[in-house]
Amino acid sequence: MERTFLAIKPDGVQRGLVGEIIRRFEVKGFTLVGLKLIHVSRELAERHYDVHREKPFFAGLVEFITSGPVVAMVWEGDGVVASARKIIGATNPLTAEPGTLRGDYGISIGRNIIHGSDAIETAQREIALWFKEEELASWQPCL
Ligand code: CMP
Repeated sequence: MERTFLAIKPDGVQRGLVGEIIRRFEVKGFTLVGLKLIHVSRELAERHYDVHREKPFFAGLVEFITSGPVVAMVWEGDGVVASARKIIGATNPLTAEPGTLRGDYGISIGRNIIHGSDAIETAQREIALWFKEEELASWQPCL
């Protein structure tokens, strides 16, 4: 079954958006299989954002993601990677559509509430980076 990695960033946690964000994915019908609140280490942040290492915003990005607790999650379901990206909205909250998480709650690209894997391969890499296998619960809703 397809899985994606989502992380509610320090701004999302501090603004009290954890419940609302989880609700959006639950009501859509996806299955929560991993969840933890963690203070991200510099090493984990740098590995997670390795693809952006040469970008001018890299240092600020690492600084921010390590500045407070993050809610790391793994969600499962058919097409969950692409669907989660739609629910989250465009990277820049100023251009994200209303109705998306970033469109509804953000105004700054550096404070865009939540990260979501951009492809199935990225999701596999990010899940392995953030979660141990035993931290993931495999279960099927009996609906
Ligand atoms: P995220 O989905 O976590 O992936 C990389 C992050 O880099 C992105 O969300 C933004 O928060 C951040 N980012 C991307 N572009 C910029 C930018 N131009 N300035 C600051 N931060 C950026």
